[in-house]
Amino acid sequence: MKEAIIQTVGLTKIFRNVIAVDQLNLCVTPGIYGFLGPNGAGKTTTIKMLIGSLFPTSGEIEILGHNIAREDKMDIHKWIGYVPERPTYFMHMTGEQFLETNGRIFHLPKQENKAKVAALLKKVDLVEAKDRKIAEYSAGMKQRIGIAQALMNDPRLLILDEITSNLDPIGRNEMVDLLKDLRTEGKTIFVSTHILSEVQKMNADAIGIIDHGHLIIEGGPDALNEKWGVKTIRITPNHAAFRDAISSDTKNLSEDGNSLVVEADDEEIIWEKIAQVSLEQKIPVTEFRAAGMEIEQLFMKAINSEKNDTRDAETREERGKTIRRREKQGRGDGDA
Ligand SMILES: Nc1ncnc2c1ncn2[C@@H]1O[C@H](COP(=O)(O)OP(=O)(O)O)[C@@H](O)[C@H]1O
Ligand SMILES: [Mg+2]
Repeated sequence: MKEAIIQTVGLTKIFRNVIAVDQLNLCVTPGIYGFLGPNGAGKTTTIKMLIGSLFPTSGEIEILGHNIAREDKMDIHKWIGYVPERPTYFMHMTGEQFLETNGRIFHLPKQENKAKVAALLKKVDLVEAKDRKIAEYSAGMKQRIGIAQALMNDPRLLILDEITSNLDPIGRNEMVDLLKDLRTEGKTIFVSTHILSEVQKMNADAIGIIDHGHLIIEGGPDALNEKWGVKTIRITPNHAAFRDAISSDTKNLSEDGNSLVVEADDEEIIWEKIAQVSLEQKIPVTEFRAAGMEIEQLFMKAINSEKNDTRDAETREERGKTIRRREKQGRGDGDA
């Protein structure tokens, strides 16, 4: 069993009568965790509860084995580095001043603070821009100084809300590379995004897909493929004899140039049939490659299955009201 860095049980947030986050059971283990979902799914609300800035309506959160409801806020910030979706930094400061100010907040001794700031500026590639005001930074630079700030404390966990969403393609690639570097250093990175391809680029170790406040699936790419059971298989050449042999065992059969692309539950059966035809008719197979579904396909499947779920907007609102009535013992709703 891998160590759980974040674990939530029944995490729920209700604003007025609408469930923003619905009985979320997350289990985040070391590596990059992509928290994926369309706008309004409940990602930011979840993150605000994880970092202790919003009280859950109900449910529990453990970070590195600590139940955060019982911890001091300052302690939580020793474990977590956080970059919000739309950071509002001290725009009048230079990048270097901003980081040094943060070091002082954490009472770092002067020399240690200076060394740390220099190392982090290097890590996020802002050495040359360190004397420029943050207000003049590009979107990507602002996000990178945010990451440097989040790392001042050397936390094991980084929580990043839509870190790539406002960046241009170059800024995105730089950010993805930075996150991968940080993973190599042993950081766990919980990153929310509504952009599917981002999670793929990051090569996320696990993903959780959330929609309407509800966790649809969670797991490593392999586990998710296992669960959804469909494999994409590419077969070259695209020969009529191959197509005929496997057509009854595939869900979807398409042609891509000189290759056949099929979806099937069982790659063994497909391989047996292809191999047989290949031997009998002397058609060499130059490629037979099975891959799990791409995250995009998983995402679409997940969203479609959610649509078929009975939990439509109205029932969610009804459930919200019911839970609200039960929860009348008055826990806070607003930002802490
Ligand atoms: N402070 C709030 N008051 C009322 N509703 C809110 C508040 N914050 C978020 N919501 C609602 O909760 C749902 C989830 O929002 P959010 O967590 O921001 O989603 P995401 O970050 O995935 O886009 C949305 O329906 C949003 O309108
Ligand atoms: Mg959000």
